[in-house]
Amino acid sequence: MKAAVIHGPGKVTYDTVNDPTIKEARDIILKVTATAICGSDLHIYSGGIPQPRPMVLGHEFMGIVEETGKGVLNLKKGDRVVVPFPIACGHCFFCDHHLPGHCENSNPEHYGPEGGLLTEKGGALFGYTDLYGGYDGGQAQYVRVPYADYGPRIVPEHLTDEQVLFLTDIFPTGYTGVDWANVQGGESVAIFGAGPVGIMAAKSAWLRGAAKVIVVDTLQYRLDKAKEAANAEIILWDGDGKNVIEYIRSLTDGRGADVCIDAVGFEPDRSVLDRAKAVFNLEKGSPKVMEACMSAVRRGGFVSVLGVYPTTYDNFPIGQFFDKGITIKGGQAPAHKYIDTLLEFVKEGKVKLNDVITHRLPLSEIAHAYHIFKKKEDNCVKVVLDPWS
Ligand SMILES: NC(=O)c1ccc[n+]([C@@H]2O[C@H](COP(=O)([O-])OP(=O)(O)OC[C@H]3O[C@@H](n4cnc5c(N)ncnc54)[C@H](O)[C@@H]3O)[C@@H](O)[C@H]2O)c1
Ligand SMILES: [Zn+2]
Ligand SMILES: [Zn+2]
Repeated sequence: MKAAVIHGPGKVTYDTVNDPTIKEARDIILKVTATAICGSDLHIYSGGIPQPRPMVLGHEFMGIVEETGKGVLNLKKGDRVVVPFPIACGHCFFCDHHLPGHCENSNPEHYGPEGGLLTEKGGALFGYTDLYGGYDGGQAQYVRVPYADYGPRIVPEHLTDEQVLFLTDIFPTGYTGVDWANVQGGESVAIFGAGPVGIMAAKSAWLRGAAKVIVVDTLQYRLDKAKEAANAEIILWDGDGKNVIEYIRSLTDGRGADVCIDAVGFEPDRSVLDRAKAVFNLEKGSPKVMEACMSAVRRGGFVSVLGVYPTTYDNFPIGQFFDKGITIKGGQAPAHKYIDTLLEFVKEGKVKLNDVITHRLPLSEIAHAYHIFKKKEDNCVKVVLDPWS
């Protein structure tokens, strides 16, 4: 089959690889009909999250069941499903606690309680490096889906692939950011990052009744998209971002936002000085967006960290955390927990997801797709790929 394979930083190619096969009774083989590139894939592409051997990428995908293992009784060949991005067994301590990203069974080689830099990681994710289970991903014509009686959800025929594809990751992820913050209605929610995740967080904030939804980015075209697709108030991040914090305070009676969501992570746009500081401190990337969230949130407020951080950082503002009494929550989104509720929202027409798509490309153009998404070229916000054209 054809698949997108990473061969080291900056190199994703359209390769011929072996077809996946059923290995365990609870597996299915899915024929992928639509797949997307996520900002999380960019961390592997940049080398920020390492993957030493070639691997099929992709954790946002959907398709048609091609074959089922003996233990999968809820699906049959021909069913059309979307697949949540964490690989989770469905019956361990963490799965029982609706924390599929921390599943104790899906990542036997590299799992552990510590959450270290290169050891003792969380549960497995599709196409997300050996550290996260080493499973091939769904930027391919076929993919093996383990624990398929737990993850995949059948989607109604009348909804197109593009209408439901983002139930795999970015919509549940954005929703996670507002649910963690317990948004009940009436809150101000400031979201850093107008990428696909930030825009989905903005849509989710409205769904939960937020009174004010503000989106920040360093790129005007991304902000324009956030305004168009999620009707957000927008702020352009300038220089060190101090202007953003002042502006958010001015919109919130001087206090700061009730909720701040970091939808950027450890690889923000930043100055040469900032980059030099990171080299000096032996740090990967920068926590500067999370720090901005801590400043922009009100006292007693909530910071949701959806953007990925793989390493430690010195000078983290723990004093500010304490003085302001901030609650912080972060991690991989528990997509399984929300996917059914969110599918209902889509079915009822309460939310539209496909308006973030800017590029539809054949999988054969995967190298170009990664390039424009990473470099933010051609006004790229979200790329959807067709493995069969
Ligand atoms: N927690 C989860 O389960 C989960 C799931 C999906 C994605 N993610 C992570 O969420 C983050 C965003 O993903 P995405 O797909 O939207 O990626 P993306 O790269 O398209 O979006 C990031 C956005 O942040 C903007 N940005 C850069 N520096 C900034 C700054 N200083 N201030 C404000 N904005 C800035 C960029 O211009 C871009 O628009 C990534 O770190 C990704 O790995 C996490
Ligand atoms: Zn993702
Ligand atoms: Zn589990």
